[in-house]
Amino acid sequence: MVKVLVTGAAGFVGRHLVRRLLERGDEVHAVDNLAPLTGAVDPAHGWTLFEPRDHANFHFSPIDCRQFFQERKDRDFDYAFHLAAIVGGRAVIEANPLAVAEDLGIDAAYWKWAVEAHPEKSVCFSSSAAYPISLQRPEGYVLLKEEFISFDDDSGALGMPDLSYGWAKLTHEYLAQLAYQRHGLRSVAYRPFSGYGEDQDLTYPFPSICLRALQQQGAPELVVWGSGDQLRDFIHIEDCIDGILSTVDLIDDGDALNLSTGIYTSMKSLAAQAAAACGYEPRVVGMSDKPEGVFARGGDTTKQAGLGFSSVIPLGEGIKQTLSYLDGIGQRRRDR
Ligand SMILES: NC(=O)c1ccc[n+]([C@@H]2O[C@H](COP(=O)([O-])OP(=O)(O)OC[C@H]3O[C@@H](n4cnc5c(N)ncnc54)[C@H](O)[C@@H]3O)[C@@H](O)[C@H]2O)c1
Repeated sequence: MVKVLVTGAAGFVGRHLVRRLLERGDEVHAVDNLAPLTGAVDPAHGWTLFEPRDHANFHFSPIDCRQFFQERKDRDFDYAFHLAAIVGGRAVIEANPLAVAEDLGIDAAYWKWAVEAHPEKSVCFSSSAAYPISLQRPEGYVLLKEEFISFDDDSGALGMPDLSYGWAKLTHEYLAQLAYQRHGLRSVAYRPFSGYGEDQDLTYPFPSICLRALQQQGAPELVVWGSGDQLRDFIHIEDCIDGILSTVDLIDDGDALNLSTGIYTSMKSLAAQAAAACGYEPRVVGMSDKPEGVFARGGDTTKQAGLGFSSVIPLGEGIKQTLSYLDGIGQRRRDR
């Protein structure tokens, strides 16, 4: 049986990944301390889309992964998916950069453990936030290519990333490459763009915009954060997991891969599409006192396609799925 570690397993990405690993029969060791400011959902309360406790191969440790790393030096993990991080939505990343900087410590502890436990493969969760923000401005933004970040002595493409969150991810990737070069530790680093799904925490724009569109059904106006013109590359979480599971054995040297669609969608357009799916056409306006982050963040898909992966779930389908999920929760609340 394949033995797998998943840190940050109770978070949004973790829940979807754990489901797929359990369903394919892996022995899953899930670690999560249900940290504040994150999207954690305690498996003891059940997960809305899937019940991990039904699987005998699910082992959950509700502890800080740094404690796990100190206590457990098992040398037989086939894969270690390291997801644990303080992320939060835009408000946390902008207003709480020193809380997010804890990711530097979490990742350093991961690599210290990996040197001792030597998992067959480390799967690192970096982020599109690691890319230089200079390439994401209103003038001259481009689809971000993996090679826009390089730690090579000669080509050395590096630029200021997105606050302490992006900085921590950049450092994580650098450590992955050093771990391969100095210790022979195999790894791959994923850079997901705006991953979304119906059970995502409501501090993220996708579900919160869908919820607003649903709750304000028929209203003449719908508001979104920032100018609303900011562009993101929304990729369904199940596409992200497919991308990971289909490419995880194809990169070993700590190199990075985008998880993206290459399609820009503005927050205003997302809100308009969600409202249209609810059957109305409001005027969508921005709320300039709320943070909007970089102007345009989209990921080039050439490298993913070269490794045989392309996302397949259209945004419209993801919107409908999320609206129906949120409506179901609302309905159950109203019925109580
Ligand atoms: N969701 C996305 O679209 C996206 C995009 C880019 C990168 N990522 C990366 O993917 C990973 C997962 O993100 P997510 O969206 O699931 O976030 P999330 O907030 O839903 O989950 C993070 C999880 O990590 C846990 N955690 C935090 N500190 C911990 C610690 N010290 N020990 C154990 N667990 C700890 C939290 O309790 C939480 O359950 C993160 O590394 C994130 O940076 C996600």
